[in-house]
Amino acid sequence: MRKITKIAVLTSGGDAPGMNPCIRAVVRTAIYNKLEVVGIRQGYQGLIDNNMYEMNTRSVSNILNLGGTILKTARCLPFRTDEGMETAYNNIKAQGIDGIVVIGGDGTFTGALRFSQRFPDIAVMGVPGTIDNDLYGSTYTLGFDTATNTVIEAIDKIRDTADAHDRLFFIEVMGRDSGAIALRAGISCGAEAILLPERATAIDDLIESLKAGQFNKKSSSIVIVAEGDKSGGVYDLAERVRGQVKFYDIKVTILGHLQRGGSPSAFDRILGSRLGFAAVNALIAGKSQMMVGLEANHIKLTTLEEALTQHQFKLEDDLMQMSEILSI
Ligand code: F6P
Repeated sequence: MRKITKIAVLTSGGDAPGMNPCIRAVVRTAIYNKLEVVGIRQGYQGLIDNNMYEMNTRSVSNILNLGGTILKTARCLPFRTDEGMETAYNNIKAQGIDGIVVIGGDGTFTGALRFSQRFPDIAVMGVPGTIDNDLYGSTYTLGFDTATNTVIEAIDKIRDTADAHDRLFFIEVMGRDSGAIALRAGISCGAEAILLPERATAIDDLIESLKAGQFNKKSSSIVIVAEGDKSGGVYDLAERVRGQVKFYDIKVTILGHLQRGGSPSAFDRILGSRLGFAAVNALIAGKSQMMVGLEANHIKLTTLEEALTQHQFKLEDDLMQMSEILSI
């Protein structure tokens, strides 16, 4: 069995609330088990630039409540090249690191898998950190709960003003390929319609349901549109509806990056702690090329290969249907 004496931790791709509690858990679990720990700054870019520092128990004091990531993050194109990976490998070897915990989403895991297939002597363990909740092998990813609550808070406020003015709001939420936030926020805020990348929505059907809402004496309507919806963009969509829905004044709000920030929820703090703890223990147990996830409230290991090939938020048709019925 491979022996691990020194590990590194990095965050990569889009930041997600819960990454800091996870970093804290990785560092302290490693030190508890008498391993050395190195923090890599700016994701894979830090591996290439040799931007690393020794961490101790105090390096992660008072970060449980912080959004973002103390290690910073980046989407690193050079790591996709053979040359970039080789430079990273040489830097890792020079530091005597024999295992890495990578916290991020599908892009992060793709890099981790390719790297560890090329350099199998470095063990890699993935932790699912993305607000998109679209990784196979974990019911929830870090940041999804906090981001959804942030969206709900914002939409509740929009509902107040929409109701006061009898308006229809189109609200774009994050999710380039994933409707996870849109669906959960839609149910939580009583959205009249939810548009997602995973399912095409006929504009005529949307207009009919908005007309039905007006007939049923609704004073306001909220349509949540996930960023990756294929209807042609939220402004374009609003224009097309404006031509046919005369009874509402129509407004558009794009929530944007505020969805990624903020103090992690209790759920994300606990999830980050559990996954970070489990990731280090899995490395110590000799595992590599895997992701730690949470399924049915139990830690589960999935191969990175499986997590990636099956990646994507699976649309829960039953929840969509329920949401439509409850918003009549
Ligand atoms: O992957 C998380 C995510 O927030 C997506 O939902 C969104 O499309 C993307 O990141 C935005 O990335 P960036 O911050 O690089 O614009």
